[in-house]
Amino acid sequence: MKPKVLVTRAVFPEVIARLAQLLEVESNQDDVIFGEAELLQRLQGKDGVFSNPTDRISATLLQGAPGLKAVCNMAVGYNNIDVAAATAAGVMVTNTPDVLNETTADLGWALLMAAARRVTESEHYLRAGLWKKWTYDGFMGADVHGSTLGIIGMGRIGQAVARRSMGFNMKVIYNNRSRLAPELEAHANNAQYVAREELLRSADHIVLVLPYSAESHHTIGARELDMMKPTATLVNIARGGIVDDAALISALKAGKIGAAGIDVFENEPAFHPGFLELTNVALTPHIGSASLNTRLAMANTAAGNLIAALSGQTPPNLLNPDVLKK
Ligand code: DGY
Repeated sequence: MKPKVLVTRAVFPEVIARLAQLLEVESNQDDVIFGEAELLQRLQGKDGVFSNPTDRISATLLQGAPGLKAVCNMAVGYNNIDVAAATAAGVMVTNTPDVLNETTADLGWALLMAAARRVTESEHYLRAGLWKKWTYDGFMGADVHGSTLGIIGMGRIGQAVARRSMGFNMKVIYNNRSRLAPELEAHANNAQYVAREELLRSADHIVLVLPYSAESHHTIGARELDMMKPTATLVNIARGGIVDDAALISALKAGKIGAAGIDVFENEPAFHPGFLELTNVALTPHIGSASLNTRLAMANTAAGNLIAALSGQTPPNLLNPDVLKK
């Protein structure tokens, strides 16, 4: 008998086909969003779940699905999963690191450029038929080249953001839980480790790439925004909740910072309506990793983890190895 799995959201048909070779798959290609009760009901009798960042895998859910052996998330972020509860319940948890580093760094740069150089704002102006004459001071933005880039969260994606700054002749400063090894700093455009406050005060453009946790909640709030340069750009490609969105909106309104590029929101897909009243912000709907190659690689990574976990192997991206001691 094949192990039984639930794939919670629609995914590439070829990935469903790959899973179905070895597992009995309940898929959701109509992409219905399951509420907690429905998810719990569908997990009854399942050995594994191919989950998505939109699924909340809570302690209650894990307790209610005692047959579950593996939760394989199609994302590098896993703040939607109670990993401690999974470990306690003997459930393996995996994510999809690495395969999305470059694509997500690309989007960080797209938002940085769009916000700093007022690309979306001026495009809306043009589309609205408001462009009647060229002016010497029309849509003057902030230079990106030759400026100082501050990166908060210098993991693999942060380093990929830093590497891209070489061509722009930028100075890179960063803040991270721990300092990188010298060879990694050198490879990241000679990035210099600085204290968080120094970064906030001296960077011209700040990119947030840190994982979400209770500790990183509202890493950027009113106090931090007050420290930033009035011309600074803030980019969030990490997770909603890392920035206090209401405080950011007030700061952008008051001109405390220059502009923002935001891909992730508190309570997404709902977002603070105040964002729509602003012109100095470029907004995208959580598309950091959204290229065909990368999303396919993420889906295949999650599928590979699930297959390994349910065939007695250690999944390559196991987040809670302590579970193997149980
Ligand atoms: C991730 O992998 O965590 C991205 O944000 C996609 O959800």
